[in-house]
Amino acid sequence: MIEFQQVSKQYPPNVTALSDITLKVDKGELVFLAGPSGAGKSTLLKMIAAMERPSEGTVNVSGYDIGRIKNSGLPYLRRNLGLIFQQQRLLDDRNVLANVMLPLIVCGATRGDAERRARAALDKVGLLDKAPMSPQSLSGGEQQRVSIARAIVNRPQIILADEPTANLDREAANKVLDALKAFHAVGVTCLISTHDEQFLDTATRVIYLDHGRIIESWRRTTPHSSQVMA
Ligand SMILES: Nc1ncnc2c1ncn2[C@@H]1O[C@H](COP(=O)(O)OP(=O)(O)OP(=O)(O)O)[C@@H](O)[C@H]1O
Ligand SMILES: [Mg+2]
Repeated sequence: MIEFQQVSKQYPPNVTALSDITLKVDKGELVFLAGPSGAGKSTLLKMIAAMERPSEGTVNVSGYDIGRIKNSGLPYLRRNLGLIFQQQRLLDDRNVLANVMLPLIVCGATRGDAERRARAALDKVGLLDKAPMSPQSLSGGEQQRVSIARAIVNRPQIILADEPTANLDREAANKVLDALKAFHAVGVTCLISTHDEQFLDTATRVIYLDHGRIIESWRRTTPHSSQVMA
């Protein structure tokens, strides 16, 4: 579903953000990306969404070659993706429901259909009662769950979340993570970058990056045994 082959990324003038990354993510996996600030986590996630292109190597996402995809092809790629990135904040000039309806309206859904599906998405993250509120009146954790509802309203095959629990307290962070895990449980592939060590305890797959390289990568087949991969 997602495959990186010997991928490097340089930002001008000479920053190496990713270096020789080879990685495969199967359908339905839940992957945590860990590593210190500047390790390349956001760059890796952005590349999957074709927000950045590889400098070397190939990235394949759902059959799309990210290095070669034309701008006209981006909507087709992104239709399969639910993005939870810090850059994509909620719009304060409309209520929570309208924020979640927006991706559907952009894709040409009728208002009635968009509203029905947006309400269902808000229900899944436990925030249906906040539908008429302004995003500003919600807590940070609630706003983040609205972002998740907006990301999944199009029923994407892949969810990319860049530090979705940053700046949240433990309880709010757990709710955000539970919402993401619920989508994983119904077969959605999830990649989540995090600094939060506690999440890694429950992870089934973790990839550690440092200075743009994968320094450790493991899958856990059962809750208590971990298997180190080459
Ligand atoms: N647009 C850009 N232009 C130039 N350099 C960039 C750009 N984006 C990222 N970088 C650099 O690439 C490296 C990797 O950055 P990236 O944002 O991927 O790290 P990160 O692991 O997400 O860090 P953090 O945990 O702080 O979010 C860093 O050295 C960063 O300064
Ligand atoms: Mg980052």
